[in-house]
Order: sequence, then structure tokens, then C-alpha cells
Amino acid sequence: EILIGLVGSEMCIRDRPERMRKPLEDLKIVQTASWVPDQVIDNDDLSRIMDTSDDWIQSRTGIKRRHISKHENTADLASKTGQLLLEKSGWQAEELDLILVATMSPDAYTPSTAAIVQGKLQAKNAVAFDVSAACSGFVYGLAVASQMMSTGMVKKAMVIGSEVLSKLIDWHDRTTAVLFGDGAGGVLLEKVPVKAPTLLGLQLKTFGELSNELSAGMTSSGNTFPKPLTELTPFKMNGRAVYRFATHEVPESILQASAQNKLTLDQIDVFLLHQANARIIKQVAKRLKQPLEKFPINIAEYGNTSAASEPILLDECVEKGMIKRGDILALSGFGGGLTTGTIILRY
Ligand code: ACO
Repeated sequence: EILIGLVGSEMCIRDRPERMRKPLEDLKIVQTASWVPDQVIDNDDLSRIMDTSDDWIQSRTGIKRRHISKHENTADLASKTGQLLLEKSGWQAEELDLILVATMSPDAYTPSTAAIVQGKLQAKNAVAFDVSAACSGFVYGLAVASQMMSTGMVKKAMVIGSEVLSKLIDWHDRTTAVLFGDGAGGVLLEKVPVKAPTLLGLQLKTFGELSNELSAGMTSSGNTFPKPLTELTPFKMNGRAVYRFATHEVPESILQASAQNKLTLDQIDVFLLHQANARIIKQVAKRLKQPLEKFPINIAEYGNTSAASEPILLDECVEKGMIKRGDILALSGFGGGLTTGTIILRY
């Protein structure tokens, strides 16, 4: 049903031939949900422990506050989101065929965060694994789920972006500590009969040569015998380089995804961009010559929650009625890898 073109490190959907469209089935976002920790840390709280200010943080990033976990780990936030998804939709956990958790802050190297969530939800029929693509993770997760659904292997899927980034932050490093927050958001996807295709564009790209521009949790190689395990390294980021990368590559990714099915940007109702910096989002809107009103921004409340930022934003927009059935959405992320990814869906 969906033809995947693999060109080097780039992946995209080509036009789907008409003869393959009958009977037409495609993926539907059945439900959205999100969950963030209670504890709120505002910019003034940070300026009491490091040399920064509310004015600097707001003017450079748009962030006012962020939610920081006290005790919950990434799988806890993801499980709460998963529970909410089931409650809101009325689905039973056993109906799920697939649980994907996109995260760059997993609870452990193994088990996967998704496996912990599967256990907590008692979703015993679901296969579960994590997707690691940092802030592009949610789009990568949707891409993996959609491909598994297109083959018929999966009918009902839960895709969650969940992060407890606070555990990877050096709270003395003002260049990264002010940017990030914790949270989770997700969707339930189902393969259903549809009148018109819902998956309208998909573009993923990985830039491994830029992997050093953003890292967190690097481990040291080499023989540790008989020394104890070394500690993980905290967030490190070349902010200016990532800024330049995002403002160039995100518009490119959106343009390539929309071109696959000859969509014009005017046909896209809402652009849900990764919430890393309000300035980046404004710059992308400008480059695409699209009105800023089509780019909802909630970074003031949450900071950068990496793979969780787009599903949290999607859930907020759906709950507020800003996104309605039939709307065409472009979800676009960028981040560690470096990576970019855009998926265009009819909601
Ligand atoms: N408070 C006060 N001053 C600060 C702070 C702070 N928190 N951080 C840096 N500064 C200072 C710097 O030391 C510098 O001072 P100097 O001029 O005396 O050297 C000055 O502010 C300007 O620093 P810049 O780094 O040039 O500031 P810039 O305007 O580029 O903003 C920022 C920095 C916000 C990080 C920006 O570069 C950015 O948003 N980059 C993109 C980051 C991003 O999107 N990351 C997400 C990746 S997604 C993922 O995978 C996790």
C-alpha cells in the first residue's frame, strides 16, 4: 500500500499507485493524551542556582517554566500517558499490537522503556520497543508504526514520546540547563477504512557526521575491568550549530515531505514543530512563507521536552479544539543524531 524509497540515509514515501488504493485503509489517530510532572521550575528558580535570568531565557528561547520530575522516571510518565490514552479511548490494553516509546532518556539500556510500559499496562499482546532519535523521535516512531501497520502486521498501535531529561542535565551548565523539561505525550493509531489517504508525506533524514553537535549520556569505551562503571556524561550541545541546522533543515524536510503527494504548504492546516526554541519556529514559519498562527507554540510552559514535545502539543491543540477531524497536520522534528523528520497526516 505504501511504497518506501530508500536513498542513502534518507527515507520517503513515493506516490501510491491508484490501483493499490482499493479497498483503502490507512492509519487514523484515534486518541491523543499527555502527562507532565507536577513540579514546576520557573526561570527565576534557575537564576537562583546559576548565572542566568528570566529575561535572557525568555528572549532567547521563549521558555518561562518547565516541569521537572521529582521521582517519576521516563517509563512512569509514558505509562501514565498510556493509561490516559486507554481511558480516553475506551480501548482495552490487550487490543494493542504495538507499543513504541520514543525517548533519549530511557530508564535503562535494557529493558526498553516501552517494555516497562507494556508490563505496567498489561498489554500482553503488544510487541514493545524504543525508538532513539532524540527530538525527532516521535516522528520516527510514527514512521515505524505506520510502516508496520501498512504491512498488516499491526492494526492497533500506541506511540508515546516520553522524556525525563532532567536526569541528564548538568545543573551548573547554564547553556543547556535552562532549555529542557520533562513530560510525555502520545497517540493511539488504528488501521481503518478511509475515504481519502491519511498518511500524506513522510521524510526522515539522519546526519551522523554531526553527531558530536549534541550528545547526552555518552559512555566511555575501553575496558573498565576491574574499575566500577563510569558515570554518564550530561547534555552537551553546540547551540549555535544546532540552531543553524534546524532553521535550514526543518523547512527542507517539510518541503520534501509535502512534495511527495504534491501538497502545497497552504493545504497544511497546522504545523506541529518540535518545541526547542520559539525563535527557531518563527524562523521556519518565515522561511516557509506561512502565517505564524499555523504554528502553535507551547514552549513557554514546558521548555524542550525532546521526543515528548510534539505529542504534548498535539494533545493540547486537540483538547482546545484547535485541531479538528479532517485537518492536515505536519509534524516536524529535529535533534540529536543529528536527525530531522516530518510526517504529514490527515487528522
Ligand atoms: N543565561 C545567560 N546567559 C547565557 C546563558 C544563560 N542561560 N546561556 C548562554 N549565555 C551567554 C553565553 O555565554 C554568551 O555570552 P558571551 O556573548 O559573553 O559569550 C551569550 O549568552 C550568547 O550565547 P549564545 O550561545 O550565542 O546564545 P544564542 O542566542 O545562540 O542562544 C541557544 C543559545 C538558546 C541555545 C540557541 O543557540 C538555540 O536555541 N540553539 C538551538 C538549540 C536546540 O534547538 N537544541 C535542541 C536540540 S533537540 C535535541 O535533540 C535535544
